[in-house]
Amino acid sequence: MIEVASELGVLRARVAQWKREGLRVGFVPTMGNLHAGHHSLVALARAHADRVVASVFVNPTQFGPNEDFSRYPRTPGADAEGLAASGCDLLWLPSVATMYPFGPEATVRVQVPGITEVLEGAHRPGHFDGVATVVARLFNQVQPDVAAFGRKDWQQLAVIRYLVRDLAFPLELLAGETLREADGLAMSSRNQYLAPAERAAAPALHRALLGVRAAMEAGREREAAEAEAVSALRDAGFVVDYVAVRRPGLELPGPRESGEFVVLAAARLGTTRLIDNLEFTLRW
Ligand code: PAF
Repeated sequence: MIEVASELGVLRARVAQWKREGLRVGFVPTMGNLHAGHHSLVALARAHADRVVASVFVNPTQFGPNEDFSRYPRTPGADAEGLAASGCDLLWLPSVATMYPFGPEATVRVQVPGITEVLEGAHRPGHFDGVATVVARLFNQVQPDVAAFGRKDWQQLAVIRYLVRDLAFPLELLAGETLREADGLAMSSRNQYLAPAERAAAPALHRALLGVRAAMEAGREREAAEAEAVSALRDAGFVVDYVAVRRPGLELPGPRESGEFVVLAAARLGTTRLIDNLEFTLRW
């Protein structure tokens, strides 16, 4: 059985005990409704730590007014079972009142400038402020030595890197690989919103990213590769928010640049918004 803490004092006492024993503490923050991708992050944290804490908290401050906060799937029983099976020692399960004692709106906000205004930030205003705010609070609550985040939320991972660097959190960040279904669809708690026909169309998102990489490897211009992906996604029934090739710091690449790139995409099937990305290297 996994230990579950919902009071900050209980969490702090357990982590302090582990640290007195000289144990290294790993942390995996989540919003619950856990799937194999989350469990792989627990395994990653476990490989770098002696004890692992996972949090399950559906964070209201990172959802926009018309987003899915109230319908976001909450499955605490299954989450606790899955975490226990994947080697997690403690589940941190705070209420909104515990996380935001003065209310979500009245709390100190953390803003990460420079990379939060574009792509996801442009389509979801305030989203990354909510993420940075809750992750900073979670880091202060758990005080981990290492923390694992998924590459699937590529821009979020970049935001967290800046957060850790600028606020000098004394922890090591680990980046877990994106887990995919057999047909290429990136695992996500939101996949379960998809109706059967939408689920059948959804792998076109990953295929579009592979197409961008192949086109750029074949020497096509970035804009042409992005435009082809947008039109392939529209043909598959998506409404596209963006398909964008960027350098690792989210800078726009120049023509015929060599080095590391990432293509990021967000697109909607019906009311479900999916994101995905693919990292690649070009050598000219
Ligand atoms: O990636 C998520 O599930 C959330 O954005 C996170 C990091 C747990 C913060 O609420």
